[in-house]
Amino acid sequence: MIQVKLDLGQLYGFIPKEQVLSFEKQIYSAYKKIYNKTGAGKEFLGWVELPSGINNSFVEQIQKHAAELRAKSEVFVVIGIGGSYLGSRAVIEAMSHHLSHLKDDGKNPHIVYAGQQISEDYLADLLDILDNKDYSMAVISKSGTTTEPAIAFRVLKAHIEKKYGVEEARTRIVAITDKSRGALKQLADSEGYVSYVVPDDVGGRYSVLTPVGLLPVAVAGIDIQAMIEGARRMETFSRAASNIHGNPIAMYAAARQALYNSGKTVEVMVNYEPRLFYLTEWFKQLYGESEGKENKGIFPAGVNFTTDLHSMGQYIQEGLRILFETVISVENPMREMRIPKQENDLDQLNYIAGKRLSEVNRMAELGTTLAHVDGGVPNIRIQIPEINADTIGQLIYFFEMGCALSGYMLGVNPFDQPGVEAYKKNMFALLGKEGFEEQTKELNERLRKNK
Ligand code: PA5
Repeated sequence: MIQVKLDLGQLYGFIPKEQVLSFEKQIYSAYKKIYNKTGAGKEFLGWVELPSGINNSFVEQIQKHAAELRAKSEVFVVIGIGGSYLGSRAVIEAMSHHLSHLKDDGKNPHIVYAGQQISEDYLADLLDILDNKDYSMAVISKSGTTTEPAIAFRVLKAHIEKKYGVEEARTRIVAITDKSRGALKQLADSEGYVSYVVPDDVGGRYSVLTPVGLLPVAVAGIDIQAMIEGARRMETFSRAASNIHGNPIAMYAAARQALYNSGKTVEVMVNYEPRLFYLTEWFKQLYGESEGKENKGIFPAGVNFTTDLHSMGQYIQEGLRILFETVISVENPMREMRIPKQENDLDQLNYIAGKRLSEVNRMAELGTTLAHVDGGVPNIRIQIPEINADTIGQLIYFFEMGCALSGYMLGVNPFDQPGVEAYKKNMFALLGKEGFEEQTKELNERLRKNK
């Protein structure tokens, strides 16, 4: 049984149900491309059967290694960018105490991130902390050649070796990379790091259920078996679904396509739970990198409510009418807290005294949805009963499959990212990398003229 429910009740005023259902043929042709491996990017479909393909002994191996790392680490550094860190961060933040960085109960290492940008200040601040903490780290890069994590790893490798000595440092570094190519693989082999493989047929943004996501998530103390089982349930469901009506993944992809065709070109992912912030970041990367090409694609955005109702809420209510919202709605919180009664009622909140905060949050969600619908913003609601490893696993597979279906319906290859090369070439040229001499000249000339 899957627990992810799709509610399109607040969409049909904009896009009639029949119009969504009219995408049935396109959905099934996209499904065929995925299951029969006949579409663009067919060599990157390993994620489709990842949940059912992971065997228990491999999960146990990761858990055992994670336990060893946990035992000797107050901090665990995840070095990676894009698909090499967003999946694990999404799961870890969704499942951890909100203020875990202030909790020092020794139960779980603090998970921190590096190599997800090139900020000098950030890395220097991180070293300040690592000077005084026991730590270990995973360096994650499928290609093994990405500049941001490579720089961070160079700095952190020197730091950890100085702190513990080369021998001990080796036991604190894990490499997760391609099985045979790339500088990181070479380095891991020559240094003798434990390494895990990112399968050839799984692209970065679809890799959260490979060691890329599983190892950091396990180090954070999260039940990776439950997460895999959740994803497996969604995988089985997706494959068995016989019609578009009863298949929330297919309906979601069809609704997005119908909205896009009607001029709604921005999808705003909404949460009412701050622990879902990074799930939205993961979603933005998954959909942005998969769909945004050939001058096409929905722009994936994100807001955190009710926080952003006091900022972006204004635009959503009354700005350009190119938006639709996709709300991740969580039925039950993990904790319980009620609003206290106050004798003088100066803040006039006694009318809700005794109620749970989640009830107020729910009314905020309902009221906002109705207001935004009235303002011309169609609404898709994705509901889960609660945030746990199982439902997060289900959501991961839901969004991965939804993304692949959407990409094929849009007519693009959802598994490549040719556009990310442009900034890299310019950066290499400006830094004077060998082989980029022509571009260096061209760019410097252009910059001189633009002054
Ligand atoms: O989804 C993707 O493929 C990208 O976002 C990559 O994950 C990202 O560019 C990092 O690549 P790599 O793992 O090769 O360092």
